This record gives sequence, C-alpha cells and structure tokens, in this order.
Amino acid sequence: MLTDRYGRVIKSLRISITKRCNLNCIYCHQEGETCKPEKEISKDTIVRIVSSATGFGVNKVKFSGGEPLMRSDFEEIIAALPALKDISATTNGILLAQRAASLADSGLDRVNVSVPSLNKEHYKTITGSSHAYPMVLGGIDAAIDAGLTPVKLNMVLLKGINDSGIDEAIKFIARYDGNVILQLIELMNFKNNVSRFMVDIDGVEKMLGSRATQVSERSMHRRKKYFIDGVEVELVRPIDNSKFCANCNRLRVTAGGKLKPCLMRNDNLVDINENATPDEIRGLLEKAVMNREPYYKG
Ligand code: 5AD
Repeated sequence: MLTDRYGRVIKSLRISITKRCNLNCIYCHQEGETCKPEKEISKDTIVRIVSSATGFGVNKVKFSGGEPLMRSDFEEIIAALPALKDISATTNGILLAQRAASLADSGLDRVNVSVPSLNKEHYKTITGSSHAYPMVLGGIDAAIDAGLTPVKLNMVLLKGINDSGIDEAIKFIARYDGNVILQLIELMNFKNNVSRFMVDIDGVEKMLGSRATQVSERSMHRRKKYFIDGVEVELVRPIDNSKFCANCNRLRVTAGGKLKPCLMRNDNLVDINENATPDEIRGLLEKAVMNREPYYKG
C-alpha cells in the first residue's frame, strides 16, 4: 500500500491529461497547475503509472484537464487501463453528446459534468461561452443514456452569480430519477482573483441541513451528503478544512506527467521520465507519497 507519513492510504489517482480547454471559466483553478503547457502525458505513460499504482492497491482513477475530451485518444487511454473499481472523468460536457457512448464502451464508468449555472446568461458570464450551454445539457442526457451514472453535476458556488440557483439545480436534477447527483463546491481562491465571489459556506450548509430528510458523510474528504426532495446533494468544503486533508486519499498526476502530492502546492512534484521502468515508477510513487502533507492541518 501507499501510505504517507500521516497514515493516509492512497486509493485513487486524479490524472490531468491536457491543459487545453474549450471554455474559459472565471473561477478555474486549472487543477492547481501553475506551470506553462508542456508536452502532454502520453497514453503509455498514463497506463504505466496506473498499472504501477494498482500494484499498491489503488483502484480508482479520475481523469480531468483542462477538458479531458479535448484529447482525441481519451477512449484509447481508458481502454488500455488495467482493471479498476472506478474510472471517472470530470468534463465540461460540451463534447459529451458525441463521445458518451464511445467513452462508456471503452470502460469509463461515470462522469462529473461542470455546470456552474443552469441559467443561460449566468452560464455565459461564468464560462465565457454563449453556445456551450445547450450542448452541455445534451451531454448530460447522452451520459445517462450511455450509463455513465450516477452523473454528478459540479457547481462551484459563486456569490452574486449562482448562489441563488441552488434550488433551481435541485429541481433540475429531480427529473433524472436518481441518475444525477448535485455536487456543490466551495470556491477556492487559488490564483487570488476570485475573492469577491466567495460564498458563506456555513450558510449553505445550514440551509441544506434544514431541508434534508437525511444527512450522511462520505469517507472521501469527509464530504457531507444531503437527501433533499428525493435527490442527493453533496457539499465539498475544501477550504481551511483539516478534515478534508485528513481524509484525502488521492495522488494527482499533472498534464505534463508529474506526480503531484497536493492540489495546493507545486514545490513538491515528482517527475516521471517517459522511459521509467515499472520498478522506477513504483519508487517514484512512493517518493511522491512521502512528500504528501496535509495542507490544512488539524
Ligand atoms: N474552486 C473549486 N473547485 C474548482 N474547480 C475548478 N476550479 C475550482 C475552484 N476555483 C473544480 C470544479 C470543476 C472541476 C474541473 O474542478 O469542480 O467542475
């Protein structure tokens, strides 16, 4: 097993496969990568990293970007992976209508779709795109049809833009018969450019708690799960949250192919040479895990 100095066991990888994106969201933290675009991680390197990690008991992989569907070889990457318990991707959904079936065929289990607002005008303000919105809605339907469920709608909360849209989002997912989960995410002011949009997350938590018929807690990041009007709503509170870090079980891989122990840091990355042997990759995974440190300490 890959256990860090704080006793946290690594169970999942979050792999960014490109920095390219077809949207330009005002809040995007770009998976915490501050470096310039590099040569994108190759399919072979991804497969070799995942294979080595599975030897340590890692059984979940999440792909992100940029926008992962910008990679035309995404299906090939998924199909080449060793057996895993859960393969998912976080996408903005624009290309999902045309790719959902082929992604499911290649072995993708489920998707998170970033939908920062269900209001067309707000969606445009946030993402910079005036034509993407209907494509994203079509993408959600296609993902459900292809069985990429449960589909999670990622909604990063932005004060004054979408914070009044939580109720609308709950109503929206209710029509999907349990196939869609709403994931409300606390905004991270990663590049120090979005402080004016920070939402009072305690207030959101109270509101959800007062409306829920049941509340539970996921082990991953200790995320709270609320059952409201027959739907599931998760609240992700990454900021200033020692519980979030204490229960973090993931290791990241950057679009350029480096192991990244923490979203919030770029000073402890571990480079993986394209030609590294499986033995070497195992050693590098162990090295990256030794670099892991809770960002918010208890
Ligand atoms: N704060 C919180 N979450 C973010 N994401 C992107 N930028 C931020 C941010 N500043 C998350 C969203 C999005 C996914 C790709 O990354 O959940 O859906």
